[in-house]
Amino acid sequence: MIITMKHHCLLLLSLILVSYATRSEGAPGGWEPIKDVKEQHVVEIAVYAVSEYDKRSGAKLKLVSVLKGETQVVAGTNYRLVLKTKGGSATTNYEAVVWEKPWLNFKNLTSFKPLPA
Ligand SMILES: *[C@@H]1O[C@H](CO)[C@@H](O)[C@H](O)[C@H]1NC(C)=O
Repeated sequence: MIITMKHHCLLLLSLILVSYATRSEGAPGGWEPIKDVKEQHVVEIAVYAVSEYDKRSGAKLKLVSVLKGETQVVAGTNYRLVLKTKGGSATTNYEAVVWEKPWLNFKNLTSFKPLPA
């Protein structure tokens, strides 16, 4: 019984160590691709980015879709998303960077720039 417990602890410990080692192999603060850009939270970040850009610039862009994105863990999470937007009849892709600290309910649009078509 005790031996089994010990084994479980060791197994758990080595699993933690392995996953930690695997994680730290990637560059610290590196960007990880978002697997599902249709995920509700990613879309919320994108909607926020476009509406915040509109508010700041007076543009009237609308989000069409999130084409791709990456996240970076930095005292919260940076989302770098490629967004397809529509302003009038023009469709433009933008790269938006949103910094989120969910535990403070804080979001900020730190970058929003057009991408070459
Ligand atoms: C949000 O980001 C903008 C642009 O980087 C910056 O000027 C502004 O101070 C930031 N706002 C907050 C509340 O951090």
